[in-house]
Parts: sequence; structure tokens; C-alpha cells
Amino acid sequence: MAMDTKNVIETRGLKKTFLDFWRRPTVEAVKSLDLTVRQGEVFGLLGPNGSGKSTTIKMLLGLLHPTGGELRVLGARPDDMRAKARIGYLPEVSHLHPFLTPRETLRYYASLFGMTRVEAAKRTEELLAMVDLAQASDRAVGRFSKGMARRVGLAQALVNAPELLVLDEPTSGLDPIGCREVKDLVRILAKTGVTVLMTSHLLADVEDVCDRVAILDGGVLRAEGKIAELLRQPDAVRFLIEGLDDEAAESLRLELEARAGRRVRQDYPAMSLETFFLQVVAKEGRARDFALAPFLARPAAGQREGGTCAEA
Ligand SMILES: Nc1ncnc2c1ncn2[C@@H]1O[C@H](COP(=O)(O)OP(=O)(O)OP(=O)(O)O)[C@@H](O)[C@H]1O
Ligand SMILES: [Mg+2]
Repeated sequence: MAMDTKNVIETRGLKKTFLDFWRRPTVEAVKSLDLTVRQGEVFGLLGPNGSGKSTTIKMLLGLLHPTGGELRVLGARPDDMRAKARIGYLPEVSHLHPFLTPRETLRYYASLFGMTRVEAAKRTEELLAMVDLAQASDRAVGRFSKGMARRVGLAQALVNAPELLVLDEPTSGLDPIGCREVKDLVRILAKTGVTVLMTSHLLADVEDVCDRVAILDGGVLRAEGKIAELLRQPDAVRFLIEGLDDEAAESLRLELEARAGRRVRQDYPAMSLETFFLQVVAKEGRARDFALAPFLARPAAGQREGGTCAEA
């Protein structure tokens, strides 16, 4: 099948076999993977531990060389530096320099993209405020909690205002407020035209935020599609009625049963534990309204001008 380079990510028959010291194949981590991710989509890559998610991501980013198959990212090969400048990546484990503060870390990454000092400083302050680290911006990241370090990693992935954001388990180590904020961030970025590829083991988070998912197992694609279509139960229908007391509800249920000629079940919708937690925390005044860093709030990718990144 021909590759469609208009897609943000396109792989055909992508393979990765790891070799041992004597160049003998040890693990077939990814076996003939066909994936397509379109512009503006939030795409979830799911699968059990060791199923090949991180390996796939590393091949897309040019960090691992595929054993076989083809791939294009933003229309280019993964080793194309111009394409790399348009990608943001949060690795599964962030390798932050322990002696740098978040402010120094972000300014350093901004400088790698060839930004002026003024632009780098502006983006750094906006990102620190966005990930709620302004208070801790002068402490060394080596002493940060897991969730705080994750926030630095997330800010770092966004410093170049990427068109494609690749997040390997972005919510791992974050508290429910942090998880909610990451999900809000992803949805808001997608609205500005950013394409997001993410992995997560927290399926409720994936369900909340992704448009499409692929499920890998043993390096093989087992299922793929729009979440709404994959999860829909076509042979059942559910009504939601507000403000009925128990008696009225029961009489309506019996009436429906008589009309439909089949059993009608009734239940009471519950809020998610996440919603409940966030309500409780909001009452204590700890939750905050999430706001996108102003420099990221741009028109969709197709309408953008060149940007400030150096074409390395
Ligand atoms: N550098 C490497 N050398 C040898 N084998 C590797 C290497 N990296 C990954 N693997 C193997 O490839 C397989 C897929 O690993 P990968 O990290 O892609 O899984 P994953 O789906 O990201 O899992 P997790 O959910 O635990 O993060 C595993 O069997 C793993 O041991
Ligand atoms: Mg992984």
C-alpha cells in the first residue's frame, strides 16, 4: 500500500527486532505495524507491559532504527532534523539534569531550538505557570517529587510549540489534579491543531481524551479505531431522566417494559471518582483553572507561519 505523506504519522509493515551482543535476534518488539495518525487527532497507543509501545514511539522519533518497514512523520523520515524541530516528546522516563532548576532546564531546551534569549525566557515563564511550577522554579529538579518532575518534562516537550506531541505515559506519577490538567492540556492543544500521540495504562484517561486508539499486544496491532465506535453497544439504548422520584421512576419503568415487551433495567448515574475528588479538592481551594501558555495558543497547524524554531 502506498504511503500517504499528508498524515502526521504513517507506518507500513514497521518492525523492530532487538539483537543481543552477538547480533542474534532476542525480542521481536514490533512486528509489521501499520499505523495512521491524522492531523489534529489525539491518538492513544495502548497495550500491556512489553507490547512495543515505547519501541514504536522511539522509531517514530528516530531514536531507534527500524529493522524493517516504512515510516513517515510529518511527511518526512524520522531522521529529518526539520521535522524533528516540529515534534515535542515526553519520554517514559524523563532524563532531567538533577542540578538544574526547572527554569534553567526550560531555557536550555529553548536554546537548543535556536530561540533568542528573550523568546526563551518568555516561553519558560509561561510554561512554568502553565504546569504550576512557578513556586518551585528555583529549586533543583533532582529533589523534585515524581509528579513535579513529570510536569517539568511536559513543559520541556512543549517549549518548541510542537505540531506533533508524543507523550509516553504522561499521567504516570501525577495526582488527580495533575492528570486532569494533562487531559485538559491535550484537548486544548488538539483544538489548536496539534496532533497528539500518547500511551497510558490508565484506560479511563485514554477514554476521556483520545479520539482514536490502537491496542498492541506482543508487538502486533490487535484493534484500532475511534473510541466511540469501538465501545458502542449497538444492541442497547439508555435513557437519562432527571428529577424523577423513585415511585415515578418505577411506574415509568413498568410502562416501558409493557410497551417494549422486554425487560427494562433502571440505574442511577454516578459521577466518576475523579469528578468527586476534584470537587472535594476544589472546596479546599487547591484546584485551579487550567490555562494554556499564551505562546501555545495559536491557529491550527495548517494556518501557521514558520515559527521561531531554527531549521537545524
Ligand atoms: N533496548 C532494548 N534492548 C532489548 N530489548 C528491548 C529494548 N527495548 C525494549 N526491549 C524489549 O522490547 C519489548 C517491548 O518493549 P517496550 O518498551 O516497547 O514495551 P512497552 O509497550 O512500552 O511496555 P511498558 O508498558 O512496560 O512501557 C519488551 O520485550 C522489551 O524487553
Ligand atoms: Mg513503554
